[in-house]
Amino acid sequence: MGEKNLRIRKCLFPAAGYGTRFLPATKATPKEMLPVLTKPLIQYGVEEALEAGLNTMAIITGRGKRAIEDHFDISYELEQQIKGTSKEPLLDEIRSLIDQCTFSYTRQVEMKGLGHAILTGETLIGNEPFAVVLADDLCTNGNDGVLKQMIDVYEKYQCSVVAIEEVPMDQTYKYGVIAGKLVDNTENIYRVTNMVEKPDPKDAPTNMAIIGRYILTPDIFDILRETKPGKNGEIQVTDAILKQAKNGKVIAYKFDGQRFDCGSIDGFVEATNYFYNRVEA
Ligand code: G1P
Repeated sequence: MGEKNLRIRKCLFPAAGYGTRFLPATKATPKEMLPVLTKPLIQYGVEEALEAGLNTMAIITGRGKRAIEDHFDISYELEQQIKGTSKEPLLDEIRSLIDQCTFSYTRQVEMKGLGHAILTGETLIGNEPFAVVLADDLCTNGNDGVLKQMIDVYEKYQCSVVAIEEVPMDQTYKYGVIAGKLVDNTENIYRVTNMVEKPDPKDAPTNMAIIGRYILTPDIFDILRETKPGKNGEIQVTDAILKQAKNGKVIAYKFDGQRFDCGSIDGFVEATNYFYNRVEA
């Protein structure tokens, strides 16, 4: 490693979680398959990755998640049935994704946290920088998608990049929170000096919260292997990224766009209304 200008090709989607906040809907359906309008959450994430030039999707699944694999595959019987009818174009977008991307899967057998999920993906990623998308953070933007913006930042700084947004101070307990110093006279690019996973507001260094988009350099895997369980007894990727930050190797990027927390009912409803109004407009 250490080579400059390694193009990022792969995007990791941790998708093994139970989605308990959406029970009973998520009893037999992966939460990543819940639709905002007619499209499952994970498809929005894959589209964002592809738009950023990443065409190799690596998905961490678990028990009960087979619908994700079936979604990114041909469905012969259905496609035969609707061939030549007015319904056929409804499959255009997903077919085009299947044509342009490869999908590979591995299972996380035990739920030991986001850091553990990402480490499980090492077998699909190997020794190259990669992106991570948490599909329940649904991001939208009129111009470049968030991941595309982050790839541009990565290409300039050649180190790990986390997406951040400011949240109300009383919400810090839901997020990884960073502290950092603005670099290069920018308004939106920070060199990270500290990161804390889900701090109480009184312990939060700032109100700048990490949202579910990361670019990670592959040394993260060795760091994760050594990372002890942290907040809530889980292996936290925030703790591993902090090790990189201590060497000056993490940028936090305040992205341009809007994020919906589709891991919560409120955020999911907001996203649904937003996309519905956009279609109507
Ligand atoms: C995870 C991360 C957290 C980050 C958040 C973004 O938490 O651990 O640092 O801020 O995603 O959505 P989760 O929401 O999975 O509990």
